[in-house]
Amino acid sequence: MRLSVIGCGYLGAVHAAAMASIGHDVIGIDVDPHKIALLASGKAPFFEPGLPELISSGLAAGTLAFTDDIAQARGADVHFIAVGTPQQAGSNAADLTAVRAAFAAIIPHLRSGDIVVGKSTVPVGTAESLAADVEATGATLTWNPEFLREGFAVHDTIDPDRIVIGVQDGDENAPAADILRSVYHPSVAKGTAVIVTDFATAELVKVAANAFLATKISFINAMAEIAEATGADVLQLADAIGHDERIGRRFLGAGVGFGGGCLPKDIRAFTARAEELGRGESVAFLREVDAINLRRRDRAVSLVADALGDAITGARVTMLGAAFKPHSDDIRDSPALDIAVRLQDLGAIVTVTDPEALANAERTHPTLNYVADRDEALRGAEAVVLVTEWDEYRRELSPDHAAALVERRLVVDGRNALDAPAWRAAGWEYYGMGRR
Ligand code: UDX
Repeated sequence: MRLSVIGCGYLGAVHAAAMASIGHDVIGIDVDPHKIALLASGKAPFFEPGLPELISSGLAAGTLAFTDDIAQARGADVHFIAVGTPQQAGSNAADLTAVRAAFAAIIPHLRSGDIVVGKSTVPVGTAESLAADVEATGATLTWNPEFLREGFAVHDTIDPDRIVIGVQDGDENAPAADILRSVYHPSVAKGTAVIVTDFATAELVKVAANAFLATKISFINAMAEIAEATGADVLQLADAIGHDERIGRRFLGAGVGFGGGCLPKDIRAFTARAEELGRGESVAFLREVDAINLRRRDRAVSLVADALGDAITGARVTMLGAAFKPHSDDIRDSPALDIAVRLQDLGAIVTVTDPEALANAERTHPTLNYVADRDEALRGAEAVVLVTEWDEYRRELSPDHAAALVERRLVVDGRNALDAPAWRAAGWEYYGMGRR
């Protein structure tokens, strides 16, 4: 099939390359000519394992192309809208400027019978508000949320857990849903669950899933706070409750909490939308989820500050990690950089290292010091703070090796990712999050 993907950010670039890899003819479109030039030369504009290979093979096979000219979407059978919905400045609500602009741009190029597929994460009610303008062209609107995780985006796009398709009136037999089933033919053939529903449910599935994940993380971080007040150990607690299949161990990683381009802004946008709908109380707990999450950053800062005491002024602190999570160069709402800046504000001389995210971090947080080489970053440190659990720090850094580099053996493990007994045995003063 011929597909267009409008918006070549994280979601769109991966979607375009993945759809080409499963046999479609894909044109990726973006208003940013710089991004398009990178993609057209076979490069991904961000770090995502497996993506550059997929882009290069699509370009070489002639099944994938990129342009900044929206008119080139004309002729595609299915048009995916994959633009961003960031948090509005000065508000919790989602900024729909890019979504509205993308629809306005594609509508003049639609032909009768085309399918338009919204993939962006939007406040519930958005699809309904866009449907009439799409239908007026003879095309059909569907909403098909995306659940990809950064770092596993290629896998999650080609082989998703489930496919959710929102159609007008929720008609399970809608022809547009069948067309999307053919787009996703390998997953459908494999028996992946396809849920055809109405627009509102499709939009809500996405935000509900992210709200649930955020709640799960904040739940265990709340338990970490209680553990800290009682001498209990949150890691053992998580293991123990995680054995209950109804709860499950995944996403019970206590630490400095969630960041990134999705969970924080999505729970805020959900709260804002629920309030608009007069149902603020239904998701009032999400404010608490957000507050617990931010408190864990405070906790990491105070662990370092308390351990260093007055000596924090001028103390050399090394942050292991800048990205909001490993396997990503994304620093949006990263707990790592937030904590780094606050330690700097307290007078520390903060050095940040990260295997992939330094260039992005330097751009947004120019006052911090950046050192690409891990060992160079550790040299002379008076405190080490692990904030992103890359294998380079979690598995490959031995406490003895690190001890030989630093000035003082003080480590705050913001992700509970290090082998605490081994670090203590190597003479380190070790602090975890919610740990004895
Ligand atoms: C998330 C959702 O998982 C994905 O389905 C959705 O499409 C987009 O948002 P992503 O932001 O890529 O994906 O990362 P995810 O792996 O969910 O991690 C989010 C944050 O939570 C990271 O900062 C991570 O470090 C943190 N986290 C995760 C924890 O603090 N503890 C955990 O146990 C798990």
